[in-house]
Parts: sequence; C-alpha cells; structure tokens
Amino acid sequence: MPASPTVISTLRLVPFFAALPDSDLERLASTARQKKCAKHTVIMSQGDDTDSLSLYIIASGRIKVGISDEEGKEVILSILGPGQFFGEMSLVDDHPRSANIETMEASEFVVVNKEDFKRFLSQNFDMALSFMKELVRRLREADKKIESLALMDVYGRVARVLLDMAEETVDGRLMIKRRLTKQDIARMIGASREMVSRVMKDLVEMNHVSFHGSVIVLNDNLAESTR
Ligand code: CMP
Repeated sequence: MPASPTVISTLRLVPFFAALPDSDLERLASTARQKKCAKHTVIMSQGDDTDSLSLYIIASGRIKVGISDEEGKEVILSILGPGQFFGEMSLVDDHPRSANIETMEASEFVVVNKEDFKRFLSQNFDMALSFMKELVRRLREADKKIESLALMDVYGRVARVLLDMAEETVDGRLMIKRRLTKQDIARMIGASREMVSRVMKDLVEMNHVSFHGSVIVLNDNLAESTR
C-alpha cells in the first residue's frame, strides 16, 4: 500500500527519519499507522510492558511526559509537540515504559512499530547517528533540569522553564503562545502552584514577563535574571 503523504511529512519532521533516503522513508511510512487521541488521553503509563512495541511521532497537538507516585503526585519531565517523538526508550532496551504520556490537547500521531524501526536503524548509519544525537540532546536537557532543581531558587527555575518553552517570533521576541498553566509550571519545577503564582506576579511587576490574554511574552531581562 502506498504511504500516506501526511505520514511521510510527519516522519520528515524528525531529524533521524529525515536522514533516510526518500525511498526508505516511503517504505517505512507505508508500514506506519496514524492514531488520533482526544485531550487528556493516557497513551502509555509508567511501568507498562504491554505496549512496548511502538515509537510515536507527534503530528499535531501536545503531550506531557510525567512520572507520578501512588498518591497521584506528578512531576512533568517534558512537554512535547509536533515533530517530536516518544516511546523510544522501551523500544531500545525492552524495559517497561519509563513515564506516563498524556495528551494536553487533541493530538495526532504516527506510530512506527519496533521491528520496522530497528530494521531501518540497523541498515542506515546516518539514521542511527542522528537518533543518538537526539538521545544525547535529551540527556543534555535532563542535565540542565537537574542543575536548575539543585542550584536555582524557584525564581530561577520558573524563568528557566519559561525560556525553554518560548518560541522566537519573526521580530525576535520570545513568547509562549500555547497554553501553559501555573499548575503545569509547578509540576515541572517541583514547587507548589501558589508559589509559582507568587513568582509570576513578581516577574510581571519587575517587567520580566507580560501577559497578553493567554500569551506570555518574555522580556530580554528575564534571561539576564537567570545568569
Ligand atoms: P518509554 O520509556 O518507552 O515510554 C515513556 C517515554 O517518555 C520514554 O520512552 C521517552 O520517550 C519519554 N521520556 C522519558 N523521560 C523523558 C524526558 N526526561 N524527556 C523527554 N521524554 C522523556
């Protein structure tokens, strides 16, 4: 069956799939499937070993990667959007899923099964190298988070999350356009929602950030405040 153009274009968003020659990418795409999920769908849970056979690529929407304790207290490890992927860890080491994945909005995915992924990986050194680079990038991000949790106060941690989540607009301004609640920020930095509210209020008063409806605009002095 010929591959769907949507599946091909979604796979091309991921650097390690983009490293494949077109004919290989199309062959891989023809074996992948598409999946749609409503907001707040739990796609995988920490400890699952039943669905350890697929790699998910986000075509649209947003998901959060989290871990939680028995009382339901949650830490958000990352928020991922279009062109990003998840599920690679269990696929590589055959261990149970390391985290919970839940959609934050209605989302669409391309799902690649483990055997196909591993076959293409083993046959393409450029793809394997690009995949390793992506894993190393995630490790660097995790190191940055450990650093901010261990060495920064709550102001620094909030500022770090805002800077990490921001996108640069054409005129060079940093903005967070997608909805990011104080509760989400609190769960990303291990603080209470009340504390995050207080810090955000101070950041607005100090003119480090401003709100335009639900859009958060970061001012140049915010980055300086974390140094
Ligand atoms: P896996 O363990 O198969 O299932 C849960 C997924 O969450 C995991 O693969 C990764 O894709 C993703 N994940 C786990 N930890 C992180 C992290 N720190 N940053 C981004 N994604 C992560």
